[in-house]
Amino acid sequence: MVVIAIANQKGGVGKTTTAVTLASGFAQKGKRTLIIDLDPQGHVAISFGTEKNPALYRWIVMKEPLKKVVSPARNNLDVVYSNSQTELVKRHLTLLDYREQVLSDLLKSSNYDFIFLDLAPSLDILHINGLVASDWVIIPTRMDALSLDGVKEVLIKMNEITNNGHSYSGYRILPTFFERSTNETMTQFKTLIQSFGENLLPPIAQDTQVREASAFGKTLWEYCPKSKAVDGYQDGKNKKGGYKQVVERLWEVING
Ligand SMILES: Nc1ncnc2c1ncn2[C@@H]1O[C@H](COP(=O)(O)OP(=O)(O)O)[C@@H](O)[C@H]1O
Ligand SMILES: [Mg+2]
Repeated sequence: MVVIAIANQKGGVGKTTTAVTLASGFAQKGKRTLIIDLDPQGHVAISFGTEKNPALYRWIVMKEPLKKVVSPARNNLDVVYSNSQTELVKRHLTLLDYREQVLSDLLKSSNYDFIFLDLAPSLDILHINGLVASDWVIIPTRMDALSLDGVKEVLIKMNEITNNGHSYSGYRILPTFFERSTNETMTQFKTLIQSFGENLLPPIAQDTQVREASAFGKTLWEYCPKSKAVDGYQDGKNKKGGYKQVVERLWEVING
């Protein structure tokens, strides 16, 4: 079992889109995959065109077994959905001893190949539980200075967690809302390459079809497999970036 957190304290950087797209990409490769929505906004449900529900609350606070709270979403893909009751999960966690390891402990007995955690844009107890439970951390970032600051904050938190004895397999930075024609994108992209080198994933183009897909409750693989965001953008003779390349890249590094 490999746990992959999608994290950035900034909102609207593409965390939920990335969690749903990567998880459904891994599920399509025949692996038993789970997404856990750790955000009280419950946007994973919207991405799948279904109703939010308090599954996370039932699992962590009411102590119902994981098997009973998951919903099937696609072939090989289950989801623990979230809604506003997730606020009560945070309150519950703050009262416990070992409060930062609750999620990690609960996941030990699960039998999925891959678990993707969609983290909320805040550095609260649930966010920390997500970072403590994960082997890999993917940090999506828009191509502007504020979002890059969010990347640094996640890395600082991961460093603290490492100092407390947790070991990560690695992290990757994912450039999102990539616009090749703007100076801001290209300046930030150069900074990212210099700072992160090998830990930088291929960029995801800004693409209105991504927003449309979630409005229709479809994954990007179903709604727009040939879009720039999935298949990459044309650069001379080559296609560059896109979630398809990102899935292949991660598949290789994670499966070693
Ligand atoms: N590459 C993209 N191009 C255009 N719109 C995008 C892209 N990625 C995400 N979006 C849209 O931007 C909004 C925020 O994305 P989301 O994945 O929900 O971010 P977060 O979870 O970080 O808040 C959503 O409406 C989503 O459909
Ligand atoms: Mg989100």
